[in-house]
Amino acid sequence: MLLSNLLLGALCVLAWNPLDYWPQDPLHLKLASKWDSEDAFSKLEDYVVEEKYPLLKLHRSLMEIESITGNEYAVANYLTKYLKNSGLTVETQHVEDKRYNIYAYYGEQRNTSTVISSHIDVVPPHIGYSVDGTKIRGRGACDDKGPLAAQVIAFLDLLHEGKIKEGDASLLFVVGEENSGIGMRTASEGLGISWDYAIFGEPTENKLGVGHKGIFAFDVEVIGRASHSGYPELGISATDILVPILHKIQNLDLPKSDLLGPSTVNIGKIEAGVAANVVPAYGKATIAIRVASDLDEVVRLVHTVVDDVEHVVPVKGRTTEPQYLDYEVPGFESIILAYNTDVPNLMLPLKKRFLYGPGTIHVAHSEDEHVENKDLLDSVVGYKGLVEHILTL
Ligand SMILES: *[C@@H]1O[C@H](CO)[C@@H](O)[C@H](O)[C@H]1NC(C)=O
Repeated sequence: MLLSNLLLGALCVLAWNPLDYWPQDPLHLKLASKWDSEDAFSKLEDYVVEEKYPLLKLHRSLMEIESITGNEYAVANYLTKYLKNSGLTVETQHVEDKRYNIYAYYGEQRNTSTVISSHIDVVPPHIGYSVDGTKIRGRGACDDKGPLAAQVIAFLDLLHEGKIKEGDASLLFVVGEENSGIGMRTASEGLGISWDYAIFGEPTENKLGVGHKGIFAFDVEVIGRASHSGYPELGISATDILVPILHKIQNLDLPKSDLLGPSTVNIGKIEAGVAANVVPAYGKATIAIRVASDLDEVVRLVHTVVDDVEHVVPVKGRTTEPQYLDYEVPGFESIILAYNTDVPNLMLPLKKRFLYGPGTIHVAHSEDEHVENKDLLDSVVGYKGLVEHILTL
């Protein structure tokens, strides 16, 4: 490690007090976002443990507060205080008992050109924070507390540097992305705000998401009649009806997209029957189709298989349109994604929507969830660049 880095690090310790943090010399923020020394992360543990960098400190604090969907209260309280102490105007929006969204901006102008957003909930189980070489491990490392922390620091950094002013940008942090999208939908229905551009934070390997597939999720349920398996003619086998239907669904010729690839079928769960010697009275399959294109056609094709089959419960389901995003920004690479986000839940007219963040979806939701420290720091530069690009549009 270079001596100068050590000295700057020590300065940061002195300058950094999360409770008295605004306005201050932006040195510590610059360090957080402009860090590119080659040996920067050979001793990551020192930086994290000693809390030298506000980005790493914020990321760690957010990760250490468990916030599995439905239990976001503590992390929301922490974040609210952090943003207030950073000098921002902070509104909270009630979603459900002990669940609220956070909307923060500088000054008094609520409507801003750009909204920068992440979700504060994570999937179970909670996995504690740890540092492993150049990786930061634990639940939320990349989904979604890495993007969240980077967005906050990027926003404050831009303000400190005078690159954004009142009305240019705001921060929106929502609950409930991981199961229902209730937080983002509540925000788009109830905040009474308009934006022109939105930046969503999710792990995209610091590339701009080209888009992501939509979904058609549904159950196929068959109500048959039990009988002794020696006398199948006395019963109605739910599995004999269900299995061919599933086979047909697997073999549907579903719409493709040049951009997002094929639509894919996952028969995620099957429940049926009680024993080998009983004709099954009941069968159910839970299916999700990731829809690359033409959601209506996907739904129609499924209905051609299940409708009018005797003993099958009429199929309903949950749908989300595929999302096509804006990804052509100088200096940014792009990436195609297969996972769902809060993008479709922000139901307001927008000129452009971007999806960007550190880390990869390949480890999100897994026991191995982590983010490379360098990617986390680089994403601050990315978010800043994106906002600056948007301001030129
Ligand atoms: C902010 O946007 C909302 C929703 O479009 C609009 O009703 C309101 O008048 C705007 N406020 C200002 C100050 O422009």
